[in-house]
Amino acid sequence: MKNYLLIFCMAVVFCSCKQGKELPIIDYIQLENTTLNVEVLAKNLDVPWDIAYADDKSLWFAEQRGVVSKIDLQTGEQKKLLTITDVWHKRTAGLLGLVVHPDFKNNPYVFVNYTVKIDSLISNHLVRYEYKNDTLINKKILLVIDGFTAHNGSRLAFDKGGKLLWATGDAYVKENAQNLKSLNGKILRLNVDGSVPKDNPYPNSYVFANGFRNMQGITIGDNGLIYTSEHGDAIEDEVNLIEKGKNYGWPNIEGKHDLPADKLFAQKHQTVEPIQSWTPVIAPAGIAFYGYGKIAEWRNSLLLTTLKTKSLRVLKLTEDGRKVLSEEIFLKEHYGRLRDVAVGPKGEIYISTSNQDWNPSPGFPLPEDDKILKISIAEKPVENVLRAIKSTGVEEVKDGKLLYEQYCASCHKADGKGVPNVFPALASSKKVNGKSADLISLVLNGAGEQMPSFKFLKDEEVAKIINYIHTNWGNKNKEILSTDVKNNRK
Ligand code: HEC
Repeated sequence: MKNYLLIFCMAVVFCSCKQGKELPIIDYIQLENTTLNVEVLAKNLDVPWDIAYADDKSLWFAEQRGVVSKIDLQTGEQKKLLTITDVWHKRTAGLLGLVVHPDFKNNPYVFVNYTVKIDSLISNHLVRYEYKNDTLINKKILLVIDGFTAHNGSRLAFDKGGKLLWATGDAYVKENAQNLKSLNGKILRLNVDGSVPKDNPYPNSYVFANGFRNMQGITIGDNGLIYTSEHGDAIEDEVNLIEKGKNYGWPNIEGKHDLPADKLFAQKHQTVEPIQSWTPVIAPAGIAFYGYGKIAEWRNSLLLTTLKTKSLRVLKLTEDGRKVLSEEIFLKEHYGRLRDVAVGPKGEIYISTSNQDWNPSPGFPLPEDDKILKISIAEKPVENVLRAIKSTGVEEVKDGKLLYEQYCASCHKADGKGVPNVFPALASSKKVNGKSADLISLVLNGAGEQMPSFKFLKDEEVAKIINYIHTNWGNKNKEILSTDVKNNRK
């Protein structure tokens, strides 16, 4: 009997060694009844754009410049498998989506999509590799679609029928999204060999759904429902529930179908409304369905990471998964920009940071960024916990500073210094120091390819933003009034 016990104890000790290195706990999150640990699973990474759990008990990840790696979740061992040499990396172009075949043992396939630039031609390649001896071999290009420096999306997932889904961006050509002949601004559906599935909605077409701008998240619910997250323009970020052959409205409709023009277009084209939308925008990125994992408070939810608001959001779903009941915001501004989220086999959660990317935030990167963090249930009671903030939905914003922070600072930064060669500084800008009327029309109409139009703001809100910019960045003109904005619209 004694011997038995001893062997048992030794086995336990041995097993816990095999569990690999202890991960450093950096924070605790308090839910209603559960306390969660946040641990560092991997660090010193370079924008891990996609993280995906695979049934080889590993967490796979793709870094934007072209490196594919995996971490054995039992031993903690991290292995670099491949550097893809033809990846073109700039701004939001690069190695983006990654998914591992759901039946990896029998089909050791890994699928990635990345941007390629040959001469001046930018495209996005969907590529399949075979995994063998800790590297990726037998590269097969499944599909090539248009690309751009921005709006390349994108994400990959497998639907419940074993077909590959590719959520693509509109490649900065809005019209692509409504054009069924273009593969941009779409959910595409393929067989694993790259052929068109027979049961796709349009004959001989990869298109499964259309009308999207720039998606950075896709996930499949336990019941097979497909959800995506999408960046809106200056307004209306979205989470959509994707159905076969449906139209999601971009660029004719943004967000909910609430304007008269939206309603007309919706009626004519039978478009589908998002199940959640956000104005001011949050820049939603990775999305993962949380089913019946251990964290009871988060069951039947969508987990969503955001870049602009730098948070993990938990969108609680109705039982049938077709509507969002509530939204809670975790980790706001705590680890910086969050690019992706994945759920592990025991209901633990992984999130990746994106603080080394093209649009850095003040105060970030943190030391040893970028990281992959693991969130799981804490074994013992703890102090100094982080808590959620309730989402208040559409906010009634009153003052110029707040308006500036919500609509302008994601690009021009809170200090007005912008990002060199990407977003101009307002602090020393001739446009800011010139005639008020010119600045008003710039804000109303946008400028160049990247500065959106802010026509949708109220006259009073535009006036407040401009007065805020004037007083902070050196313009001595007199205060402008709502009527100045109103007159400029004509
Ligand atoms: C998505 C990023 C983005 C957002 C959000 C944004 N801008 Fe811009 N902005 C730009 C870019 C890019 C340019 C340069 C456009 C060009 O001329 O090509 C620009 C140009 C400007 C300029 C002219 C600067 C100069 O000296 O040429 C002003 C002024 C300006 N923006 C104000 C604003 C204000 C006010 C807001 C908020 C209401 C705002 N921007 C929101 C990206 C952005």
